[in-house]
Amino acid sequence: MTAQLSKKSEAWSARFNEPVSDLVKRYTASVFFDKRLAYVDIQGSLAHAEMLAHQQIISQADHAEIQRGMAQIQEEITSGKFEWLLDLEDVHLNIEKRLTELVGDAGKRLHTGRSRNDQVATDIRLYVRSEIDNIVGLLRDLRLSLLDLAEQHADTILPGFTHMQVAQPITFGHHMLAYVEMFSRDAERMLDCRKRVNRLPLGAAALAGTTFPIDRERVARTLDFEDVCHNSLDAVSDRDFAIEFCAAAALIMTHVSRMSEELVIWMSPRVGFIDIADRFCTGSSIMPQKKNPDVPELARGKTGRVNGHLIALLTLMKGQPLAYNKDNQEDKEPLFDTVDTVVDTLRIFADMARGITVKPEAMRAAALQGYATATDLADYLVKKGLPFRDAHEAVAHAVRACVDRGIDLSDLTLEEMHVFSKLIEADIFEVLTLEGSVAARNHIGGTAPQQVRAAIARHRTKLS
Ligand code: ARG
Repeated sequence: MTAQLSKKSEAWSARFNEPVSDLVKRYTASVFFDKRLAYVDIQGSLAHAEMLAHQQIISQADHAEIQRGMAQIQEEITSGKFEWLLDLEDVHLNIEKRLTELVGDAGKRLHTGRSRNDQVATDIRLYVRSEIDNIVGLLRDLRLSLLDLAEQHADTILPGFTHMQVAQPITFGHHMLAYVEMFSRDAERMLDCRKRVNRLPLGAAALAGTTFPIDRERVARTLDFEDVCHNSLDAVSDRDFAIEFCAAAALIMTHVSRMSEELVIWMSPRVGFIDIADRFCTGSSIMPQKKNPDVPELARGKTGRVNGHLIALLTLMKGQPLAYNKDNQEDKEPLFDTVDTVVDTLRIFADMARGITVKPEAMRAAALQGYATATDLADYLVKKGLPFRDAHEAVAHAVRACVDRGIDLSDLTLEEMHVFSKLIEADIFEVLTLEGSVAARNHIGGTAPQQVRAAIARHRTKLS
């Protein structure tokens, strides 16, 4: 009987008397994606073994053997020599089996007081924690690129839009700073999520804890966790930390996607506000004149898959009774793809921001169309004593007259303006210029070039 057992069923025990089919083997295996966790798996195992030895649950000699074996395994993985076996289901069993091949009984003792359930939960937390640190660094690089662009164009004027209609003149630096704010909050959100990721499940064992005299705080310290998970059932079963990470990642992509949408519009020849360096664009196989903003378009598209991964994880969790269920194996691919997508996107965007050429004349021409300074005229009348609603109405009449004649507000003569309000004086012409309009919004958060420069300085201090 034993002779007929597949390698896989050997992994479990004599409890099984029938091998699984190849299809079931393939269906239940995760090694071809969770081998990405190999290094954190080894890191977790070494911390566990160190604690077992310290607590005299295993001998110092076994501990030394485990360390020796793991060092070799690590080397084999790095050099690509490690042989990953589908028969051994996942990363944990593959590594443990190889360890036992290399060091014998010491390898078999490693799993004392531990289960794959707390092991995998620990691995994912270690993995997510290091990717959070990576992503926070990339968000910093992106913000530094955007700050450079904002600084070069602190005075460059373009129309600001609401409802995609020209609203008021703004500075391009101010526009870029809006994204810097978004990416700052994204970094904050990631770091906040990190606190909840950074707790140790090991010690929960399969679900109820272990009968061995373990020292969980010691393992937490070794692995740099801020705390241990305080309930063993919760420790092995919940993946809320991964969901939270994916939610924060989806927000990053949402911000990137909004920016992408603007870049695509701005690069359209009908708008012509910017150009994006050729290395981020592609041509068309049929239309020789085309230069397409592929990178922003793809980033906008990839936002969909990251949002989808968030929903996948939420759905994965929602029906699970306590404690661990195999469903949780499905947490990995969405999580890994989220990391890959966000990391690549942020790297490309930090680089692409430096490849954006701004076309101030086109922006200016657009700001001069659409009565962008109408609010300035209304504010002017308010400052002369007119209630705001009356001022709004007077300016609406003036705009209407200009639309009919196809001219700008600043093209009206003083006498013509007096038809709409007698309060208007010669100083109005300064107010109606684009420069006057932006410079007047001179308070924290306003679009005035002076404020843009101050905000850039604040961000740079924060990032240094
Ligand atoms: N590969 C599994 C996972 O990703 C490891 C935990 C398996 N635990 C179990 N009891 N089958 O979740």
